[in-house]
Amino acid sequence: MNTASAPEATGADAPRTRETLKALYGYVRPHRWTVVLGLLLALVGTAGGLLQPLATKALVDRLSSGGTLADILLALTLLVLFGTVAEAFGAYVLERTAESVVLAARRSLIGRLLRLRLSAVDRVQPGDLMSRVTSDTTLLRAVSTQAVVNAATGVLALVAALVVMAVLDAVLLGVTLLVVAVVGTGAALVMPRIGHAAERSQAAVGEMSTDLERALGAFRTVKASGAEERETARVEASARRAWRHGVRGAKWEALLGTADNLAVQLAFLAVLAVGGARVASGDIPVSTLIAFLLYLFYLMEPVYKLVEAASAYQEGSAAISRIKEVDRLAAEPPATNPPERTAATAAVPRPASLCFENVSFRYGPGLPYIHRQVDFEVPGAGMTAFVGPSGAGKSTVFSLIERFYETTGGRILVDGEDIRRWPLSELRSAIGYVEQDAPVLAGTLRENLVFSAPGATDDDIRAVLARTRLDALVERLPHGLDTLVGHRGSKLSGGERQRVAIARALLRRPRLLLLDEATSQLDAVNESALRDVIVETARETTVLVVAHRLSTVTDADRIVVMDAGRVRATGTHEELVAEDELYAELAATQLLLPAGRPGR
Ligand SMILES: Nc1ncnc2c1ncn2[C@@H]1O[C@H](COP(=O)(O)OP(=O)(O)OP(=O)(O)O)[C@@H](O)[C@H]1O
Ligand SMILES: [Mg+2]
Repeated sequence: MNTASAPEATGADAPRTRETLKALYGYVRPHRWTVVLGLLLALVGTAGGLLQPLATKALVDRLSSGGTLADILLALTLLVLFGTVAEAFGAYVLERTAESVVLAARRSLIGRLLRLRLSAVDRVQPGDLMSRVTSDTTLLRAVSTQAVVNAATGVLALVAALVVMAVLDAVLLGVTLLVVAVVGTGAALVMPRIGHAAERSQAAVGEMSTDLERALGAFRTVKASGAEERETARVEASARRAWRHGVRGAKWEALLGTADNLAVQLAFLAVLAVGGARVASGDIPVSTLIAFLLYLFYLMEPVYKLVEAASAYQEGSAAISRIKEVDRLAAEPPATNPPERTAATAAVPRPASLCFENVSFRYGPGLPYIHRQVDFEVPGAGMTAFVGPSGAGKSTVFSLIERFYETTGGRILVDGEDIRRWPLSELRSAIGYVEQDAPVLAGTLRENLVFSAPGATDDDIRAVLARTRLDALVERLPHGLDTLVGHRGSKLSGGERQRVAIARALLRRPRLLLLDEATSQLDAVNESALRDVIVETARETTVLVVAHRLSTVTDADRIVVMDAGRVRATGTHEELVAEDELYAELAATQLLLPAGRPGR
């Protein structure tokens, strides 16, 4: 389980209650008048109920004095009808508001999710984040409206009933309160357990989504490894955990529900005993005892509503604390006026210059340094290659340029300006980036191509398809550019995915093009064609490539040799073969040349 979904310590209950109430108020605030309307309608219904015992008392009194009953019966019927209609309409108004609260919570979560910093997302699982949007938000439905109204009407009805009961007979009220207080104390102790059970249950739902996402995300590997059973068991285990905590919560809720019943029943018996004695001794008339008993049963509803509100509050607070955890994750600022860098608006992009000054970096406090005093300069245009052993920190160079992560020390300059001073969206719009595993998104081929250049025209697309040699593929596809490529582009070959990713980056017309092993899966013919495209692009764009195959970068303008987070050497292929031991060794093994001799 990740740390973000760990239930909070019991000791933190007080600040948590404050935070929950504040968050709850935030959700309800935009709908406060609707909630008030719902509340008023519920009150009308409640008031109707409140008047019924009084009308009954009048009826009994009228009976014993021999008067007519018709007007009282008519009044009673109207009360019931009016109360019912008001309650039904009130319920609808509240449900509607509840859905709006869920929508608002989802919108703010969704809006935040894609802006989270990579360093934050590294620590949580996508599946868990998803379950917070889909599942946790639904728990807000009850707490944000029905519970608020239940609590308000419950308290009002309770107070009103208690006042009337006090007027009827203070002694009997005392007896009632005593019984209710005893049972209520027990219920209050049970309450937080519902919240904790709900939070654990929701955490388990999050783990279930995480496990599902893990298995479905590597569907073929799961099958090829014969891991279906094991992965099924894993997902099932979290489903069971959710069940277990859900059942535990249900147990406490059931207990709480009966406590309400029990309190009224016990109070009924006590009032019957004491009240009977008082009627016998002539202290109160029998009609008062009847009315009192009716109020006692009437009490059941407000007490039940309060209990329900408390349960909903406990579940809602579990959801709110999980939603708030996402709010606490670091996010990037929203793009202010995102610059539309499309093929049309950036006709002749100027190549960007790039400079790493003493950059040190690690992925998190306590983790090892990935970059130590990385220093290099790329004046603009031309091709710069990064080579070095696996894990040397080459891809990390690109992540830092894109500002996916912040440097730990030193600075990175683009166009002579510290990238921390660049507006983030502007910086990124100047860059075209092909990730190491060339991601392709589910959707059509066209959607994938224009993904980073939404304004690209059909002509632009045609031109880039020809350059990346994808035109033959598009002709072959049943629906051409509108063919669906499957989950993560699973219907394309590895090399096709790479070419789609390169085409996408080229369409953006970047000033700085980052290619991370972008041609590693291409056949020799396609690779040499794409290399020509890259060389051509490098005439007017700053191109950085990471390559394992030295043959693809021997003609780069500059090669940066990285090893264990440091820049070992910088130079052209010829210079490095002569001067750098590691490079000469790589060249010797890969280009089948004796070490120390120029390789062209
Ligand atoms: N998100 C991350 N959190 C923690 N450590 C990471 C993260 N990403 C990469 N690393 C670590 O940083 C180191 C450098 O990774 P990087 O991807 O930059 O290497 P590379 O030079 O591109 O290697 P390769 O040639 O295999 O692609 C690796 O040891 C890796 O384990
Ligand atoms: Mg890499």
